[in-house]
Amino acid sequence: MKETLEQIKTLAISELDDVRDANALDAWRVKYLGKKGELTVLLKQMGKLSAEERPIMGQLANEVREVLIEKMDAQKQCMEESSLNARLVDETLDVTIPGKSVTLGHQHPMYVVLDELKEIFIGMGFECLDGPEVELAEYNFDKLNAEEGHPSRDWSDTFYFDKDSHVMLRSQTSPMQIRAMETRPLPIRIISPGRVYRKDEVDATHSPMFHQVEGLVVDRDITMADLKGTLNTVVEKLYGKGTKTRFRPHHFPFTEPSCEMDVQCHKCGGIGCPTCKGEGWIELLGAGMVHPKVLEGCGIDTEVYSGWAFGIGLERTAMRRFKIADLRLIFENDVRFLAQF
Ligand code: DAH
Repeated sequence: MKETLEQIKTLAISELDDVRDANALDAWRVKYLGKKGELTVLLKQMGKLSAEERPIMGQLANEVREVLIEKMDAQKQCMEESSLNARLVDETLDVTIPGKSVTLGHQHPMYVVLDELKEIFIGMGFECLDGPEVELAEYNFDKLNAEEGHPSRDWSDTFYFDKDSHVMLRSQTSPMQIRAMETRPLPIRIISPGRVYRKDEVDATHSPMFHQVEGLVVDRDITMADLKGTLNTVVEKLYGKGTKTRFRPHHFPFTEPSCEMDVQCHKCGGIGCPTCKGEGWIELLGAGMVHPKVLEGCGIDTEVYSGWAFGIGLERTAMRRFKIADLRLIFENDVRFLAQF
């Protein structure tokens, strides 16, 4: 029996050396020290021994048991330590490594211009309004005095949603004039920037979606002089003091009289060059005195009130401001291009 005990002890200790995880350790414990374990089974056979042998073997068996328990605890501790060390190595955090640099973007050149315009107008007491891009033809055309049959209402020019041509993607920001006059108390001083849509092929100067900023003033005693004075001030703030403008007669259904405003070419100073196509002037915006029919349609007394309005293309303004030759660059969002501004 003593030999069997020694054998169990040697085998158990050598097996314990190979134990690497908690499950294996538990299996080992059950095998040697458990209720049906080898040592326990052996101890149960003690009854067969003689009275002299029994205490000696009993003591020996207990010693073996204690040694095994001790070794088991030591193995357990050793395993815990090595798993902790492995985790510490694994999860090492070197707080001295420099952080990853974050590349910060910046404003799109067109929005730089929009912000400049907003700042100029807000500085002059205007409010900035947002408007719907899905608009009623009634607001985009009828109330702006562009009646049935007006060329801009054609299906080849406008994106309609229904066959009756009632709902559409707005083709201009001008419907915001109507929405402002119908809902706001007088006097009115607003600008309204946003996207507009027309059935145009994409090329260097056209896109089926572009941006406009609409402006509207309605008050007592408003004249063409207010229009010119305000727009000249805006141009000087945008392009620098002394920038020359000129006003040409034009036609818009919603203004009477109507005009287009040109700025003197920044490239050649008015002599004529490729940028201004030899004209010396570059067209900047459309404007005019709000047509009495439009004012009256919004319930405004034209005996007392008058107004002026303008519409400016944002892409074009940004192109001029940053000397960008092709409209497509504004939309393509090539970071190599945008990073220059
Ligand atoms: N809505 C015009 C267009 O898209 C621009 C415009 C011209 C707006 C004259 C106005 C205006 O408010 O008075 O071409």
